[in-house]
Amino acid sequence: MAIASSKFLLFFIPLFVHLLVLTTAQTNLLQHFCIENHGNFTANSDYKSNLDQLLSSFSSDTKIDYGFYSGSLGQNIDKAYALSLCRGDKKPETCRSCIQNSSQVLSQLCPNQKEAYIWHDDCMLRYANHSIFGNMEFGPYFWMYSLNNVTDENEFHEMLNVLLGRLTNLAASGDSRRKFAAGNSTTKSSRQIVYSLVQCTPDLSEQQCSSCLSQAIALIPTCCQSRQGGRVISPSCHFRYEKDPFYDLAATTLPP
Ligand SMILES: *[C@@H]1O[C@H](CO)[C@@H](O)[C@H](O)[C@H]1NC(C)=O
Ligand SMILES: *[C@@H]1O[C@H](CO)[C@@H](O)[C@H](O)[C@H]1NC(C)=O
Ligand SMILES: *[C@@H]1O[C@H](CO)[C@@H](O)[C@H](O)[C@H]1NC(C)=O
Ligand SMILES: *[C@@H]1O[C@H](CO)[C@@H](O)[C@H](O)[C@H]1NC(C)=O
Ligand SMILES: *[C@@H]1O[C@H](CO)[C@@H](O)[C@H](O)[C@H]1NC(C)=O
Repeated sequence: MAIASSKFLLFFIPLFVHLLVLTTAQTNLLQHFCIENHGNFTANSDYKSNLDQLLSSFSSDTKIDYGFYSGSLGQNIDKAYALSLCRGDKKPETCRSCIQNSSQVLSQLCPNQKEAYIWHDDCMLRYANHSIFGNMEFGPYFWMYSLNNVTDENEFHEMLNVLLGRLTNLAASGDSRRKFAAGNSTTKSSRQIVYSLVQCTPDLSEQQCSSCLSQAIALIPTCCQSRQGGRVISPSCHFRYEKDPFYDLAATTLPP
C-alpha cells in the first residue's frame, strides 16, 4: 500500500489502496479520516453526548428502509450533525448493523475530533459540528483498484465509460430517499463483462449528484486505467466496478 504525498490539500487526499476483490469480508473497513483542524471535544462534553445520541438514533431507527439517515442534535456550539448512507443494495438490518459498527469504530479511531468520516463496504458514516445536509462534498476522497489488468484496455474503458454514464443518469434522477444504480455491460469483441454500481447521498440535487459522479469517474485514468476493478469514494458519491458480480443482482436498475 502506498500513500500519496502531502502536496494534496487536506480535503483532497487520494489514498492508494489495493482492492482485494474476492477475499474482502462485507464488513471490511475501507478508510477513515479524523479531521484535525475543525475542532476537538472532550469525553464528557455536550457535543459528545449529542453525537452519541444522534448516532444511536440512526442504528435503532427501524422505520427507515432506504438506507439513508441524517439529522442534528443539540444547541449552538454543542450541536452535532451526522449523516449515514448504506450501499443501495443492502438490506435494512445489514445497513443498521453497519452504521452501529461504524459509530463504535469511528469513536475509537477519532476519539475527540468533531468532524470524522468512515467507510465500510456496506455503509458510510460522517459527522461534523456544522450542517452537512444537501452539500456536495467531494473531499476527502480515496480510491481503490484491482491488481489485475484487462487485456483490451481501450475497448474495456470505452464500454465502462458508457456504462458509468448511463448509471450516473439513472442514479442522479433518483428521489430524496435513494440515488443508486447498478448494472452490467459486456465488451463487443472480447466479451468481457463488467458489473458496476454508482450512488450519491440522496440529499443532493440531480445536478449535484451528476457533478459528483462525473468528478469521480474523471479520476479513472488516474486511479484505475487498465484495471479489472476500481472504486472512487467521496463523502457525497461513489462508484465501483468489477469483472465479477459484487452487488445483489436483484438490485440491478439498468434495463436490459
Ligand atoms: C466548530 O468547531 C470549531 C472549533 O471548535 C469552531 O471554530 C467552529 O466555529 C464550530 N462551528 C460551528 C458551526 O459551530
Ligand atoms: C485537536 O487535538 C489534536 C490532538 O489530539 C491537536 O493536534 C489539534 O491541534 C487540536 N485541534 C484544535 C483545533 O484544538
Ligand atoms: C465491527 O465489525 C468488525 C468486523 O466484523 C469487528 O471485527 C469489530 O469487532 C466490530 N467492532 C465493533 C466495535 O462492533
Ligand atoms: C497492470 O498494469 C500496471 C500498469 O500498466 C502494471 O504496473 C502492473 O504490473 C500490471 N499488473 C499485472 C498483474 O500485470
Ligand atoms: C446484466 O444486466 C441485465 C439487466 O441490465 C440483466 O438482465 C442480466 O441478468 C445481467 N447479467 C448478468 C450476467 O448478471
